[in-house]
Amino acid sequence: MSAATKDDETYPRKILEYMEGFLISKTLFAACELGVFDHLEQAERPLSAAEVAQGLDTSLDGTQRLLSACAGLELLTVQQCNDQEVYSNTGLSSRFLTQTGAQSLYHSIQYNSKTIYLCWHYLTDAVREGQNQYEKAFGVSSKDLFEALYRSDEEMLKFMHLMNSIWNVCSKDVVSAFDLTPFKIIYDLGGCSGALAKQCTVTYPSSTVTIFDLPKVVHMSREHFVSAQDKRISFHEGDFFKDDLPEADLYILARILHDWTDERSSQLLAKAYRSCSPGGGVLLVEALLHEDGSGPLTAQLYSLNMLVQTEGRERKASEYARLLTAAGFTNIQVQRTGKIYDAILARK
Ligand SMILES: C[S@@+](CC[C@H](N)C(=O)[O-])C[C@H]1O[C@@H](n2cnc3c(N)ncnc32)[C@H](O)[C@@H]1O
Repeated sequence: MSAATKDDETYPRKILEYMEGFLISKTLFAACELGVFDHLEQAERPLSAAEVAQGLDTSLDGTQRLLSACAGLELLTVQQCNDQEVYSNTGLSSRFLTQTGAQSLYHSIQYNSKTIYLCWHYLTDAVREGQNQYEKAFGVSSKDLFEALYRSDEEMLKFMHLMNSIWNVCSKDVVSAFDLTPFKIIYDLGGCSGALAKQCTVTYPSSTVTIFDLPKVVHMSREHFVSAQDKRISFHEGDFFKDDLPEADLYILARILHDWTDERSSQLLAKAYRSCSPGGGVLLVEALLHEDGSGPLTAQLYSLNMLVQTEGRERKASEYARLLTAAGFTNIQVQRTGKIYDAILARK
């Protein structure tokens, strides 16, 4: 018997790690919220805990412990300098954890900390009741999912930043999972902040992309995310359940169907099929579950997150294929990207 197996049998390392996993998330959230990574980036030299505490107006003791834990998590490097520890960002932290990082996940971390973490407090209730926990977590009683999510302009902007942020690390893979060159008129249904639309216009310079979203989201997107210089991106204000969809060669539905029940998803796909140009298609972008239930763990956890926060679920490729076929689509192709989000292309 190998040492590792023996260790696993007599010492529950994995269970202990899982039990305390939230300590890691909260350490990351606190360091981001307090601006630890931004402060170290701006300093352009390693800083002691006292210097960080002074810069962030935090307690020395608390800061020492936080920096030490971040070093243990390999989010900071620590060196000895004149008998004291000094800290600097790792390459990973500079790139992903600072607000100005090339592929910043700062807004995703903020939303996880301020919203998702609070909803997950009620995960047990969500499983028991089979429904989202917005009312308990935030006192919001709206039956309309996006009315609850967008309970104030501030919350809507935070959500849009969350949606925008992950595409800093995943958009190229999903947009190039299939060759979309033949589709000249693209509508991104529920296109939100326009991050995928922007990537589409970069990868497919001869296509135009229209972001279709609720009027207040479109206004916020124009104001904060898509500049007037992005000439090949336009907007369409509407409700994709209530209004007609304009004709398009391709409808992108990225992280849309996972918000909704099969019934509402079918309704939306049937509408897309009716409005789609002949030979056109639909591109679904979702975190796909394996067919045999074996993973990926991220998609399995996201499905729980959908339970806690929405009316939907993550699905297997075969489940999406069933919904697409029922709506009339054919020639269904699946591309796994190896990252969080995968792509399914189907044709009319
Ligand atoms: C989970 S977000 C996905 C955003 C974006 N596709 C992405 O992946 O980053 C869902 C989007 O659908 C939009 N949405 C929700 N209900 C809608 C409706 N009835 N009509 C149009 N857009 C809607 C939301 O405003 C939001 O932008």
